[in-house]
Amino acid sequence: MNPMSYLPGKFVRIIHSGALLFGALLAGYSNLSAQPASAPASSTPTKAITVGFAQTGAESDWRMANTKSMQDEAKKRGITLQFSDGQGKQENQIAAVRNFIAQGVDVIVIAPVVETGWQPVLREAKAANIPVIDSDRQMTVTDPSLYACFIGSDFKTEGKMVANWLGAHANGKGRILEISGTPGSAPAIDRHQAFVDTIAKYPGLTIIDSQSGDFRRVNAKEVMEAFLKKYGHNFDIVYAHNDDMALGALQALQEAGIQPGKDVMVVSIDGTKEAVQAVADGKMNCVVECNPLTAPLIYDAAEKIVAGQPVAAVTYNKDQLFDSTNAAAAVSTRQY
Ligand code: AHR
Repeated sequence: MNPMSYLPGKFVRIIHSGALLFGALLAGYSNLSAQPASAPASSTPTKAITVGFAQTGAESDWRMANTKSMQDEAKKRGITLQFSDGQGKQENQIAAVRNFIAQGVDVIVIAPVVETGWQPVLREAKAANIPVIDSDRQMTVTDPSLYACFIGSDFKTEGKMVANWLGAHANGKGRILEISGTPGSAPAIDRHQAFVDTIAKYPGLTIIDSQSGDFRRVNAKEVMEAFLKKYGHNFDIVYAHNDDMALGALQALQEAGIQPGKDVMVVSIDGTKEAVQAVADGKMNCVVECNPLTAPLIYDAAEKIVAGQPVAAVTYNKDQLFDSTNAAAAVSTRQY
């Protein structure tokens, strides 16, 4: 039985206003370190809850680690997890959310594949008094009361960190090929725009071409092969929106006889063990972390919401940067 179903809609909205107020008191957002995304020991009374999780898909090592984090932590806490793999399609995720509503789960967690188009199904969840947590990728909604809170990384900061690192280390060699993520997704939009806005400060750094690799290694390898056909060696930097795509590009570069990390710089975002190892090996130059191990924070929030306690409206991971100065020391402690 869903305890929230006992609560009239008005009460649910009051809880949410409380959450927003609490968030505002925390200077707009809570910047919690999440490496690993360990939440402070919760004082929330333990209550076995059921969570429906509409996952984006299984496109990358990052995503697999995120799914594992949600599954392992649910087991640890005795939470019943209803898991759905959206296979990269918003319609599958919306169908999964409708299924969770029909089942009467206590909380719904959505990792939205794209940023827009969620309002109708969020309204349905609200009408059923089921709170929604937005995980990983932000949704754009005109009515912020449609979800309880956001927990994940700040993609704009990530794009900015990569750009500033290049500004300091590219030595005036700045023809950039960008391999972007899934079109319409928050990380693809934010990592591109923040990067573009930041490189504007550095004369010489320019994106000469940008193509989507859909956050997938195999797609990015094909994109890089097409870039190589078009530009030959006439570029200096590959900026990939995630590590899987950087590693796919690496393969294409090596097959073309170009030494990644030396002949051209390769930079990306996620911080997977494999990418941090590539930085340590000198095959990549910089990786900015995007922590997928957020399940403890998400379930803490879910348990608090069900218990009627306030939660921060926005919680960002505190992500770090790896380059030749710290990658080798970090490899052995990487958890994904
Ligand atoms: O939304 C986070 C992004 O999605 C990660 O950078 C990427 O690896 C994943 O597929």
